[in-house]
Amino acid sequence: MKKMLIAGNWKMNTNVFEAEKLAQYILGFLKSSDEVSSKVLICPPFTNLYPISKLVDGTSLLLGSQNCHFEQKGAFTGEISIEMLDYCGVSHIIIGHSERRAYFDESDELINKKLLAILDFGKTPILCIGETLDERNSGNTFNVLSKQLNADLEGVSAEAIENIVIAYEPVWAIGTGVSATTEQVVEAHNWIRQFLVEKFGEAAKGVALLYGGSLNEKNANELLAIENVNGGLIGGASLKGESFAEIIKIAQKYV
Ligand code: PGA
Repeated sequence: MKKMLIAGNWKMNTNVFEAEKLAQYILGFLKSSDEVSSKVLICPPFTNLYPISKLVDGTSLLLGSQNCHFEQKGAFTGEISIEMLDYCGVSHIIIGHSERRAYFDESDELINKKLLAILDFGKTPILCIGETLDERNSGNTFNVLSKQLNADLEGVSAEAIENIVIAYEPVWAIGTGVSATTEQVVEAHNWIRQFLVEKFGEAAKGVALLYGGSLNEKNANELLAIENVNGGLIGGASLKGESFAEIIKIAQKYV
């Protein structure tokens, strides 16, 4: 049986009313489904976390955030701490998303600080890694992935590795409607698994590896079937209740 996590990254979309509606739709779907063995997670904008936490309380739907600060409190205007997220019922925190790396200049050093703080707090980081098109075309995909993994996972112990989720998200596939091909995903996920096992030992076989980048209800069948794919980090398609529900249904074939 393989581990499966279907995660929706809503990015900077949904006001509080839209967010509640979408969460209700997903809750309704989960309730009416015979069996959902995958973990299902939604990551709405910060301002929608607390109201949604009231809706998901006591259900199987998990709540995540799209970012955090590594300090617990203090003079960091505009930032949100892990403790604040804890009070909003958050279990998972996305870090290192390529949009944060590109538009907010987040370095591997900063991402590593966040990752260690999240683990310390007992939450699950979803660490995003991935190459740009230029990096892929110049044959540097695995140099980039190894640089990101080495730096972002600095100081992580072999015991802690299983508490981390890793999302492989080729930057060129995010929001473009063009996902990576099955062959590219097989190659990248096998490579990441092998890298982790070499670095952390057998425990790394239990790390959930998500694929992200234009994953939708049309390509989910092929991508979620891949051995080393343990689910998806889904942007655009997670904003449409029907599409997200369909992906959860498809995932059920492979758990
Ligand atoms: P996408 O986004 O599914 O819209 O490509 C994925 C992501 O950025 O996590």
